[in-house]
Amino acid sequence: MNALVEKLKSIARDTNATDIRAAFAADPERFSRYSAKLDDFLFDYSKCAVNDAVLDGLEALAKDAGVEKKRDAMFAGAIINITEERAVLHTALRNRANTPVLVDGKNVMPDVNGVLDAMGAFADGIRSGSLKGATGKAITDVVNIGIGGSDLGPVMATLALAPFHDGPHLHFVSNIDGAHIADTLKLLDAETTLFIVASKTFTTIETMTNAATARKFIADALGDAAVGSHFCAVSTALDKVSAFGIGAERVFGFWDWVGGRYSIWSAIGLPLMIAIGKENFAEFLAGGHAVDNHFRAAPVRENIPMLLGLIGYYHRNVLGYPSRAILPYDQRLSRFPAYLQQLDMESNGKSVTMDSTPVEGQTGPVVWGEPGTNGQHAFYQLIHQGTTIIPAEFMIAANGHEKELRHQHQLLIANCLAQSEALMKGRTLAEARAQLTAKGMDEAKADKIAPHRVFSGNRPSITMVYDSLTPFSFGRLVALYEHRVFVEGVLFNINSFDQWGVELGKELATGLLPVVEGKESADGHDSSTAGLVAALLKAAK
Ligand code: F6P
Repeated sequence: MNALVEKLKSIARDTNATDIRAAFAADPERFSRYSAKLDDFLFDYSKCAVNDAVLDGLEALAKDAGVEKKRDAMFAGAIINITEERAVLHTALRNRANTPVLVDGKNVMPDVNGVLDAMGAFADGIRSGSLKGATGKAITDVVNIGIGGSDLGPVMATLALAPFHDGPHLHFVSNIDGAHIADTLKLLDAETTLFIVASKTFTTIETMTNAATARKFIADALGDAAVGSHFCAVSTALDKVSAFGIGAERVFGFWDWVGGRYSIWSAIGLPLMIAIGKENFAEFLAGGHAVDNHFRAAPVRENIPMLLGLIGYYHRNVLGYPSRAILPYDQRLSRFPAYLQQLDMESNGKSVTMDSTPVEGQTGPVVWGEPGTNGQHAFYQLIHQGTTIIPAEFMIAANGHEKELRHQHQLLIANCLAQSEALMKGRTLAEARAQLTAKGMDEAKADKIAPHRVFSGNRPSITMVYDSLTPFSFGRLVALYEHRVFVEGVLFNINSFDQWGVELGKELATGLLPVVEGKESADGHDSSTAGLVAALLKAAK
């Protein structure tokens, strides 16, 4: 493996693959050579520093790492999450073909379909007003209480599919900071509010604390007996839910083979289903399923998640780029970068291999981003002229939903394409200088100013184009990134499906609570922590 990576480094150097601008000048077919399609979805990676030799090297790497074999093992329900001894089967949740998927010899599809049906009936009841609050009023507002994978997916997806939102208003509370739930409760009428307590484990302190606050809100306004009509829950820990007092008919389960950050397709998607209806939710699942079929069947050079993963790995581990920017030219994907942060960084932010040895080389990059064009007026300066190369991933719809604002959409498209062109082409010193003198600047001043106006170019980007952001095309996009993370994880030889790195902070917070409450001394903590506790206690009113 390492020899293959070293070989790739020398291929990149020796074939001058990183001169993207020269590659475009030399090859008028570069776009068609280095782009792939899945129905209306176009994946253009021609503005990355690749050539056939690099792609051959990446393909050899994928073969050596067993990406296809491991992909098939994942779909077949093998225990690939070795540290938690679990299968990884979020793909079963969107298996619209309904082919059997076996876990421990049992077909999980009847259970998957059963929960989907129950969610559908519940969502219909809330949407139609037939399921009412305790005082007989229809539900107008739904609050999802969850965090991480039990929050980011539903928030992001609800924003993405706003044009399809015809159900009650949705709110999301995640932070342990009381400000979050307090600001939300201020907007709500207890009589017409439903809370969804969403937690895979039903132990997460943020969610349990916010759920208790919400319970008090209902009980104070309507009495204890009203709680049951204003709560439902989504969890894998059904025993813990019943202890909270939520009736079994209002509990929607999922399974330990669904990772939190992969759970939007499960009952965790209930708020989305309530917002857009079960038919649109089924379309979302179908989009994910279409990508699963493509990922399983398409040859590497036509396989979009595979290419996205291989190029991601190439950027990170061969060319050494430390981060990637997710830049949707789609305002409704405003939370997609945050969603991908969890998906990618919680999955591939690891330092130990599948063989329990330290990794050599790099694993997951820092993932960040904002929608264009907002980002252009904020951080793009660094992407264009900074000393760090940041591969950019652009996404744009051919059609906005606002037909009457077509001109604004054309401006959006022009901006998106201009950015990737500028990153690739750049502007030379001679060009910068000529531009200044053409505007009448004297030669001496032009010599001084021109270097500031140089763009090195050769900065890589991927552009993804889809017809319009619908439940189906959006499902496709989410699944595409999930599989990209999988491919990169296999190449890094890590377990992408555990998250032990979040545990230490949780444990220490539990231990620090009595200290912060002033019930225990800070003895035994480091002097910084003890000093900070003392300062906070002194200032507490
Ligand atoms: O702390 C990380 C994490 O375990 C995530 O992986 C998960 O999505 C989130 O917390 C929420 O967990 P739960 O759904 O069990 O409340």
